[in-house]
Amino acid sequence: MLDVKSLLSLVEEKLPKKRFMHSLSVASTAELLVLKYSLEPNSGYVTGLFHDYYRYLSDEEALAGCGKITFPVFPEELENPVLLHAPIAAWNMRRIVGEDVPESYVDAVRFHTLGSKDMGKLGAVLFVADYAEPLRTHLDGKMRIDILSSSTLEETVLKVLRMQDEYFLSIGRKNAEVTVELEAFLESGGEFS
Ligand SMILES: [Fe+2]
Ligand SMILES: [Fe+2]
Repeated sequence: MLDVKSLLSLVEEKLPKKRFMHSLSVASTAELLVLKYSLEPNSGYVTGLFHDYYRYLSDEEALAGCGKITFPVFPEELENPVLLHAPIAAWNMRRIVGEDVPESYVDAVRFHTLGSKDMGKLGAVLFVADYAEPLRTHLDGKMRIDILSSSTLEETVLKVLRMQDEYFLSIGRKNAEVTVELEAFLESGGEFS
């Protein structure tokens, strides 16, 4: 696997400044959550840095890029191709970051936009960090602390989903099926594996 410094340079070269800063901020937030929940050191930092690597593909490039992917791509991702940056990053992660990248890292990157009950604990960390990193202006300090101070990852993700639901309702957007499934899973006491 690439060392963090080399990965940092790759991501910095690939992304516009603002998105690079977001990626750094997700990486730091994810790494704090990784420490809090005793997950593998560096796993939050590496997935956080890489998660938006393909965020700036055009719709045409994204649709072409996902043609090669052998795992399922969700219909909502095809309808809104900017979302395809998640499966495309997962698909290419081992080629770019290293063949020895663990499955849990690939899964985390794959589900970082829509979430999934199958995203694993690292996926939950990345999902939350992407939503609550300090450069995101849609949250105030109190909301951020409320999210990040939850006592379990499941509770943390559920808080994010409920805030997101409220926002989606206000703009008339529907959750993807996989996100609805995740919320129902957590509400019925499901735990990430
Ligand atoms: Fe993303
Ligand atoms: Fe992101």
